[in-house]
Amino acid sequence: MRVYLDHGATTPTDEKVVEAMLPYFTEIFGNPSSIHEFGREANKAIQKARETIAAKLNANPSEILFTSGGTESDNLAIKGTATAAKDAGRGNHIITSKIEHPAVLRSFEALEKEGFKATYLNVDREGFVDLEQLKESITNETILVSVMHANNEVGTIQDIDEIAKICKENNVIFHTDAVQSFTKVPLDVQKIPVDLVSMSSHKIHGPKGVGALYVRKGTPLKKLNDGGGHEFGMRAGTENVTGFIGFAKAVELTTENEITDIARMRDKFVNTVLEKIPDVKLNGPGISEGKRLCNNANLSFKRVEGESILMRLDALGIAVSTGSACSSKSLKASHVLTSMNIDPLLLHSSLRITLGRENTDEEIDYTIESLEKVISDLRSISPL
Ligand SMILES: Cc1ncc(COP(=O)(O)O)c(C=O)c1O
Repeated sequence: MRVYLDHGATTPTDEKVVEAMLPYFTEIFGNPSSIHEFGREANKAIQKARETIAAKLNANPSEILFTSGGTESDNLAIKGTATAAKDAGRGNHIITSKIEHPAVLRSFEALEKEGFKATYLNVDREGFVDLEQLKESITNETILVSVMHANNEVGTIQDIDEIAKICKENNVIFHTDAVQSFTKVPLDVQKIPVDLVSMSSHKIHGPKGVGALYVRKGTPLKKLNDGGGHEFGMRAGTENVTGFIGFAKAVELTTENEITDIARMRDKFVNTVLEKIPDVKLNGPGISEGKRLCNNANLSFKRVEGESILMRLDALGIAVSTGSACSSKSLKASHVLTSMNIDPLLLHSSLRITLGRENTDEEIDYTIESLEKVISDLRSISPL
């Protein structure tokens, strides 16, 4: 049996998505900037795709910029607002959290090298940002706060409603990286005063290398690359038409029912593992509190290394991860778990399991069974 339980890293592209994309490679292949019929058709399709993404956030289509994925959206949101503020002679202080994705953390570091001052907010043991520290950190110089909607490693869903309100009261731009939460956790930009939202297609069964950035009308943002006037003049370069179509189709295909079903399987997995395997700890918020991504489980197995579990499970056809995909090749302890003050003995024994719509109960049962055996084997040879 082959079981894929690494949907936080990426998801299989849905066949209906591929089907929707195909005509745009060969039939409707025009350059959307061309004035002729071929171009107009492609342009019309992009605008329709934009409307689909916008509708999911209750935004105006003119507030959606297509990008090459979550990484570019984060870079554009953070560097674009910081540079615009600098040009306008505004403050030079930016705030984020310690558990952000590298796309955000490295963007902040790049800005620090340019002279911006950055504050990295602490999180508690479940990964929630310290809101008091946020309030205290904001000064007259603060221009931007960037806090992720849901964490990719432990699934913690931040109270972005509250964070957005704090930012609005203080006239500070608020960006959220919603790459993991988009379509899983509702986000209505008419209700939550967030200014910028990063999204990515390949986390929701769309194609890789495609994403979007929601930019609230009036948010100062400077483009990062020069060229033609594509994407409202904010992102030069001929559009990835097939990718945008695929992303929109992926959004269309998401349902509330699948979220309920994924959460049910995740809960069954976590509860059975905690019951059957001794000395296991769930990292992040509890599964029944409604503050954790529906598809995420992050568990530490005392006295065994996460990497060893991963490799044994891989040999049994089961794909999981020990951290985020981007850092999974390094053996450094996860910056997320470290920031959450997880017991150092548990830092290297964590495993991330992220479910998706194509998983079945049989697959979950097989994974639990395999995990029981793998942990028991590894513990029997563990020097700890
Ligand atoms: C929270 C978060 N932000 C950003 C990204 C980067 O997205 P992309 O792979 O589309 O560049 C990821 C991908 O793992 C992520 O989990």
